[in-house]
Amino acid sequence: ALVSLRQLLDHAAEHGYGVPAFNVNDMEQIQAIMEAAQDVQAPVILQASAGARSYAGEAYLRHMVLAAIETHPEIPVVLHQDHGATPAVCQASIRSGFSSVMMDGSLREDAKTPASYEYNLEVTRKVCEFAHWVGVSVEGELGCLGSLETGEAGEEDGVGAVGKLSHDMLLTDPVQAKDFVAQTGVDALAIAIGTSHGAYKFTRQPTGDILAIARIAAIHAAVPDTHLVMHGSSSVPQEWLAIIRQHGGDIKETYGVPVEEIVRGIGSGVRKVNIDTDIRLAMTGAMRQLFATQPSEFDPRKAMLAAKKAARGICKLRFEAFGCAGQA
Ligand code: G3H
Ligand code: 13P
Ligand code: NA
Ligand code: ZN
Repeated sequence: ALVSLRQLLDHAAEHGYGVPAFNVNDMEQIQAIMEAAQDVQAPVILQASAGARSYAGEAYLRHMVLAAIETHPEIPVVLHQDHGATPAVCQASIRSGFSSVMMDGSLREDAKTPASYEYNLEVTRKVCEFAHWVGVSVEGELGCLGSLETGEAGEEDGVGAVGKLSHDMLLTDPVQAKDFVAQTGVDALAIAIGTSHGAYKFTRQPTGDILAIARIAAIHAAVPDTHLVMHGSSSVPQEWLAIIRQHGGDIKETYGVPVEEIVRGIGSGVRKVNIDTDIRLAMTGAMRQLFATQPSEFDPRKAMLAAKKAARGICKLRFEAFGCAGQA
């Protein structure tokens, strides 16, 4: 059944677990997530970015998610719009049937330039007004995602700021978070603690100086009734990087957010954990491996099935690690 983000994360908070929010673009990813959830009886958050909507098309995305809900009627599913750049984008998603939207007012309408605090308050408050009226949840963002190592937003895929970010923009301030939540009424709040989107998050295994897990507890204490969201939470598995490289891929040395650090974050109040890159890496590794080891194969379904199995494996591991298994 389709549920709101507030409903799902209230349950997670009450029972002390976190929920992975997986980005989806196509049927195989949606099936992989739903099958993994079915395997371990986990609740599901499917999220679609602007890129996903232009890739699949609004109607395809909507109908694929409806098909997922019809196929797994006992699994609670949130359909969440990831990184809305304007209130108009959020409004369109609500019309399309999303049960949750993210108004990312940490950046201006161009989704590249850091916005003022006043701008963020204004657009997020506006979205809360019309979304809550129809029972749709809202995620806001305070602070800009980006690397504490380099000050770069770090993403090549167009999501996130461009150019250098100052150190204080890269870390969410608990005092400001309290004011932001009081003035907007958001259900969930994305925080900046040194993670960034994409495969290139850290040049080494992250330590506390570049991944500020310790800050989460203070933010949670300041806004105890608002569900904290960790973006850029892919772990960038070294084993998938190795498989990609073994079969012709070229991915430079890089490190993600270790699963045990995410689990610490959940212990400090994180409830929604955004993951896109790990599924991309696993699917790409599996497809490269399939075609490289079976060069005469030309049925794309073979590669898609291998990709789906790899994605399903990642999803199952995250559901289990985050305490989601058995919570559906
Ligand atoms: O928020 C970032 C996600 O990884 C979405 O990426 O814009 O390429 O769909 P995308
Ligand atoms: P990753 O790139 O780490 O998977 O993060 C995805 C994300 O935060 C989507 O909003
Ligand atoms: Na989001
Ligand atoms: Zn994100």
